[in-house]
Amino acid sequence: MTVIQVPTTPFADQRPGTSGLRKKVQVFQQPHYLENFVQSLFDIRPDLAGGTLVLGGDGRYYNREAVQIILRLAAANGVARVLLGAGALLSTPAASHLIRKYRAQGGIVLSASHNPGGPEGDFGIKFNVANGGPAPEAVTEALHARSREIDRYLTLDGPDIDIDHLGTTNLGEMEIQVLDPVRDYADLMETLFDFEAIQQLFHSGLFSMRFDAMHAVTGPYAREILEGRLRAEPGTVINGEPLPDFGGHHPDPNLKHAADLVALTKGPDAVSFAAASDGDGDRNMILGRNCFVTPSDSLAVLAANAHHAPGYAGGVVGVARSMPTSQAVDRVAEQLGVECYETPTGWKFFGNLLDAGRITLCGEESFGTGSNHVREKDGLWAVLFWLNLLAAKRQPVLDLLHDHWRRFGRNYYTRHDYEAIDADAAQGLMEHLRAHLAELPGRTLGGRTLTYADDFAYRDPVDGSESARQGIRLGFEDGARIVYRLSGTGTEGATLRVYLEVYERDPKRLFLDTAEVMAPLVDIARDLAEIEQRTGRAAPDVIT
Ligand code: G1P
Ligand code: ZN
Repeated sequence: MTVIQVPTTPFADQRPGTSGLRKKVQVFQQPHYLENFVQSLFDIRPDLAGGTLVLGGDGRYYNREAVQIILRLAAANGVARVLLGAGALLSTPAASHLIRKYRAQGGIVLSASHNPGGPEGDFGIKFNVANGGPAPEAVTEALHARSREIDRYLTLDGPDIDIDHLGTTNLGEMEIQVLDPVRDYADLMETLFDFEAIQQLFHSGLFSMRFDAMHAVTGPYAREILEGRLRAEPGTVINGEPLPDFGGHHPDPNLKHAADLVALTKGPDAVSFAAASDGDGDRNMILGRNCFVTPSDSLAVLAANAHHAPGYAGGVVGVARSMPTSQAVDRVAEQLGVECYETPTGWKFFGNLLDAGRITLCGEESFGTGSNHVREKDGLWAVLFWLNLLAAKRQPVLDLLHDHWRRFGRNYYTRHDYEAIDADAAQGLMEHLRAHLAELPGRTLGGRTLTYADDFAYRDPVDGSESARQGIRLGFEDGARIVYRLSGTGTEGATLRVYLEVYERDPKRLFLDTAEVMAPLVDIARDLAEIEQRTGRAAPDVIT
C-alpha cells in the first residue's frame, strides 16, 4: 500500500463549534471535506504519529464511510494504533474512557449529538485530547487556522477494512484493534455503582423502568448493563437498535423529542422510573412517575446524595455547572461546604477543574451530567447514579425530589429556544442587550429588582485562560435570573436560547406549576430583548 498525497484547497467553514465540527451530511460528503479537516488535525497534532488514536461514532448516516476515510488518513499520517469500536460505534463517554484507560494520544468521535441523522440530517466530528476530554479552544482554534491553509492531505490506496468483527488487523503499517464498544465502559460503571443493590431494586416487584435509547448509540450499552449485568426485565430498553436515521426522530432526550417515553410515566400503568439518552450517549433525561427532573435539579440531587454510590463514598470535593444551568447545585455546595464553579457553556470547560481534582461532579442544564470518571458528560452514568440512589433510598423519584426542595429550596427553571432564526437578527439582538447592560442594575421589572447585568466572562482558575462574551446574565435580588445566549451547535441560521430561573424557599411555594411561576419573567425576557420585533417569532420553538 502506498501513501498518496492529494492536492486540495481549503474550505472556509471548518471552525469547530461548542462541540466539534457539525454540518449537514451533504457538506461532509463533498470531495475532500472530511479529509481536509482530519488532515488539519494530524498536522497540528504531530504526537498522533506513532501514537494511539481511539475512533468510533454514534451510528448515524455516513458514520461507517467516514471511519474508512479516517482510517486511511491515520495510516498515511503514521498513527501506530487505532482502537476502533466494532461497527464504528462508540458512545462519547465510552470513547473518553478508552482514551484514558489505554493512554491514547486522542480520539475522534463521529457525531452530531442530538441532531437528526439520515442523508438529509447532520453529521459531525469531534476531537478529544489525551485526558479524554473535548479539545480545548486553543486546539480547535489551531485546527481551524490550519484548515484555512491546507493544500494537501495524505491517504492510502488500501481497501476498506472489516470494522464489524473483533480482532486486530493492519492497514499499511498501522494496527487496528476492533474492540467491543461496550465492555470497558460497562466494567467502569460496575466500579462506581452498587450493582447488587440495583439488581435487588429491579427484583423487588415494586419497581419498573424504561430506558429509551432513541435508536442511537446507547442501545447496546443499555442492553448490556441494564438487561444484562443488572438483570432488568427484557424490554426495559426501548428503541435499542442504533439506526442511521434514528428512526426519523431527533435523538434528543427532552420533553418534546422523548414524548412517548414521558407518556409511559403517566396514568395507572406508569413506570416508576424512565430515562433516555441522546445520539452519542452523553446526555440524559430523568423521569419518575408523574415527574420530570430538570437536569439542573438532577445535578443538585446527585451532589447532595453522592455518598450513596460506592464510587463517590468519600463525598464530593467540589462541583461545577455551566453558567446558564440553574443555581440549585450552588445551594448544595454551600451546605456541603465545597466550592461551586460557574463555567461557560460546553463540557470542555470542566476538563481543567476535573484534572486538577477541584471538582467531582459537574453538569449543564442541557441534559448533561458527569463526574471525574471520564472527561465527557455521561448519559448512562447519570441513569445508573439515579438507580443507585433509588435503590438506597427506596423512595419514588417525586418524593426524593420534594425532599430535596424542602431542604434546599427550589430553583424553578425553564429554557426557551428560538431555532433557525436569521443570523443577523440574532447578532443584533445580542448587541442591543450588550449596549444596555450598564443601565440595567437597580431597575425594577415586574416587581423584581435587577442586581447585576453582564456579558459572562470566565477566567479558568487552573490555567488562567480567558473566555469572553459567553452570554448575557441578568440577576435579580431574589435569586431569579434571565440568561441569553446564541447556540454554538446549530447548523442552520442562529438559535437563541433564553434561560429562566426563579428561586423559592417558602414551603408553601415549592410545588407550583413551573409555567405559572415563570410567566412574569418570560414577559420581561421577551420585552427586554425585543425578541418578537427582531426575530419575527412570537413564541419559542422548544420549551424545556
Ligand atoms: C448545546 C448545549 C450545551 C452543550 C452542547 C453540546 O450547546 O447548550 O450545554 O454543551 O450543546 O452538547 P449550544 O447549542 O447551546 O451552544
Ligand atoms: Zn450528545
